[in-house]
Formats: sequence, C-alpha cells, structure tokens
Amino acid sequence: MPPIAITPIEALPASPLLNPKQNNRARTDPDQVARNTLAGPLKYTGLLENYSHFEVTPSIGREFGPDLQLSQILKAANCNDLVRDLAVLISRRGVCFFRAQDLDQDEMMQLQKKISTLAGQPRESGMCIHPVSENVGEMGAKTQLISAEMQRKGGGIMRLHDDVSRWATRAFHSDVSFEKVPSDYSMLKINVLPPVGGDTQWVNCYDILDKMSPSMLEYLKTLKAEHNANFFHQEAANHGRAVSETMIRGNPLNVGDDLSARHPLIRTNPVTGWNALYYSYGFGGRIQGVTYDEHVMLREYLTQLCMNNFDCSVRFRWEAGSVAIWDNRSTLHSATFDYTEERSGDRASSIGELPYLSNEGISRTDGLRAEGVSW
Ligand SMILES: [Fe+2]
Repeated sequence: MPPIAITPIEALPASPLLNPKQNNRARTDPDQVARNTLAGPLKYTGLLENYSHFEVTPSIGREFGPDLQLSQILKAANCNDLVRDLAVLISRRGVCFFRAQDLDQDEMMQLQKKISTLAGQPRESGMCIHPVSENVGEMGAKTQLISAEMQRKGGGIMRLHDDVSRWATRAFHSDVSFEKVPSDYSMLKINVLPPVGGDTQWVNCYDILDKMSPSMLEYLKTLKAEHNANFFHQEAANHGRAVSETMIRGNPLNVGDDLSARHPLIRTNPVTGWNALYYSYGFGGRIQGVTYDEHVMLREYLTQLCMNNFDCSVRFRWEAGSVAIWDNRSTLHSATFDYTEERSGDRASSIGELPYLSNEGISRTDGLRAEGVSW
C-alpha cells in the first residue's frame, strides 16, 4: 500500500507543562507522537467466523454469543492474530457486542490496549484518562467506573446541555473527541442494570456520507470543526474537583485545561481506509472557516443526518455481563437516559492517532463494492 497522505496538521504550541528535561519539540511534534503506525488498511482474515454471531443491521453492529469469551482470546496461542482480526472487525462493523462475558477489569485493560496497539496505535498513545475521572490513576491502571449516581451528581452530558435542548439524540458523541489526540476504541461492560431502560445506541458515520451529494461531501472535506468539552470544568466542580493542568491524558499532546481541539470534519479510519463524518452535537463546537450562520446551519444539517437516518444506527439492550467494543473514529454513541435506578459498569478506552483525512480514503460503500463483500 502507498503511504497514507494526510492533510496538513495545524502547528501546536509546545506545552510549558511538560517535563523541561525532555525534548519538548519532539514530544509535541504530531509526526513523532500521534501518527498511526499502520502502513495501510488491515485485512480481516476470518478467524472469528466460527463463533456464533449475527450482523445486527446491514449497516452497523455484530453480536457474538457466549461461546466467544474475550478472556479466552487473551489466553489463546494465536492471541495477536485473533485480536488483530477483532480490531479490524470492530472498525468495519462500527461496534461489536459480546454476551455473558467473564472478562475482569484487568483483562479489559489488557484487551483494550492490545486492540489499539495491533491497530497501529502511536507509540506515545496509551489508555484514555478522562479529565473528570477520579478513580483513574495517572498511569491509567484501572478501568473507569461509569454510574448513574456519578452522572446525576456531576451533571452529565444531557444536563449540561439543558439550556440547549431536551432531545435525547443531542447526547450523541465520540469519546473524548475534544482531546487533541482522541480515542480510537472504547469498551464498556455493564454490571448493574435497571429492570428496563438504559440501552445504548450507535450511529455508523461511514454510511452517513452516502446521504450527501458528492459536491457537498467534497466541500465538507475542506473543513475542520472544533470539538469542545470545556463544560466539564463545571462537571468537575460539581464533584468538588478541578481538571488537572499537568496530567497527561493518554498522549503528550493531551495536557492542560483547555478541553477543545480542531479536527477534520471528514476523517479517514486507518484500519479500514474508509472516510467517516467526525462531528457530534455532544461535543460539537464551531465549524471553522464559515460564518456563524453557516456554522449553525451546517451543525444542524450534520446532526440531523446522524439522528434521522435510523438505517445507519443500532440499539443494544444490555444484559449483566454484556460487553460492547466500538471504534470512536467512525461511530457516535449515546446511552438512553430513560431510567432512575442504578446502572453501572466498567469502561476501558484507548487514545489513538491525531485525526486526519487521507487522499486515499474512500467511502465504506465503495470499499465493500471493490472487495465484493456485503460488510
Ligand atoms: Fe461515551
């Protein structure tokens, strides 16, 4: 494969918060610390086809039965081959579901790191550390607890958007997209469930591009958008904490208290070579290079594209022990906040590469057609 050509990356200022003994220039050079290491898209070799499974919708989602135990994949002699195929499958299907898993927290962290590494994670990227987490050490040694109680206390993405909208779909987001170097993959295991409610939904942002005219898509490829989560300062304050100014959150470029970044509006996934929309209302900030009025209209248009096209979405009903793993580069997701009882689980999320748009990037539809396959 030819090397992936990328759009120019905005220069980032050297952070004074990094260790002055280190070579700051190298530590803040995106080429050095934040470029995906794959030489080209990865092929799925079919190692997971013998486990019971079904495609949940034509566009997005595959569900595996309990005969596939992620804990056993970690112990298999051909573990790396299996996990590499798992990474490719997740990137192609957007999200994969696994029922009745016995995976513990340490194994979640191990598997998450391995998926990311085998999918070309930059050497300087590690596990995601959320700026508002309290139970995650600087080394990211633990999974992150998610719970309804914590969300009520802090505010949560919907409450903090209360003055903007009451629409449930406004909480769709891609994990930590407000970071300079955002997440590649996330894994969630739900342990405590309400009797009913709390489903999670995902949107396939590859297929959303097919809903646009070619000329609109070509225009959007020229734009960048801000992703902004500075509202998390209020959330941290509600927990009696502050966002750390010095903690490195999974990549040397993710440091400081400004929780915002500018990314290409259309992004190439290095694992598939397919382009996807990379924008959400949840963290969606100002679209760059257009007037304010155009920004408002474009934001609404892009949001409606994701929310109204339910042929590009999947909804998952959790059971105790269910695990979901998804690719944050090409999907959006949101919990459904329709419950009052406790809902808690463990999340493991990794930091990937600096988002880019490749000249080689193609649509998922064209990619599948060229391969002669349906997913
Ligand atoms: Fe999330």
